[in-house]
Amino acid sequence: MHESSLTNMTRFRDQFLEQYKDQDLLIADLGSYDVNGSYRPLFAHSSWSYLGLDVSAGPNVDIVLENPYNWQTLSSDSVDVIISGQAFEHIEFFWLTVLEISRVLKPGGLCCIIAPSSGPEHRYPVDCWRFYRDGMRALMAYAGLEILDVYTNHQLTGWQDDSGIWQDSVVVARQRAKPFRRRLRERLRRYFHLVLLPPNQDLGN
Ligand SMILES: C[S@@+](CC[C@H](N)C(=O)[O-])C[C@H]1O[C@@H](n2cnc3c(N)ncnc32)[C@H](O)[C@@H]1O
Repeated sequence: MHESSLTNMTRFRDQFLEQYKDQDLLIADLGSYDVNGSYRPLFAHSSWSYLGLDVSAGPNVDIVLENPYNWQTLSSDSVDVIISGQAFEHIEFFWLTVLEISRVLKPGGLCCIIAPSSGPEHRYPVDCWRFYRDGMRALMAYAGLEILDVYTNHQLTGWQDDSGIWQDSVVVARQRAKPFRRRLRERLRRYFHLVLLPPNQDLGN
């Protein structure tokens, strides 16, 4: 995990979660596998629970997602905060992932997604995308989340490690209320994407 990402996630915690430090929070980290460090220590607070989610079993992974686009182990409206760093560029159909994030996030729940806008190909197990601020905005709009902050790190130098090559984009968003019509629309969209026209996950790579 590179330095700029830890800085960005620390900033999210300090700016957006400070007010919840005495409340019980379930914080799920998508793509949590400990490659070279993890966000877990940042959220090691007595009233908070951290849950690592990944498609691969390994260090810092509490739940292995059998289907990356249908998280059967997590019920709707069950998570207070979803964080994710350096994972979205590896998710082939990331627009389906963001629908799952929206489904499991409680109304008023927060998410923070960090993904590079630059950098060399690095396959975990694939490397598909880079993200800019407008892409992050579009993604949040698609999932019905309200944007609270979005920015890209353009700083190339001054880091202790290779952070400058990644130029991370960061979005912080909040789940809106889920009235009946929204739930119905999202259920239909999910049914359409996962049952009627599921993605072909055999890409031959
Ligand atoms: C580059 S690693 C980043 C790990 C850690 N978050 C970090 O910053 O060091 C990317 C992780 O995303 C996971 N990943 C890939 N596709 C995923 C998916 N569809 N859903 C969840 N995680 C996924 C990979 O298994 C891998 O552990």
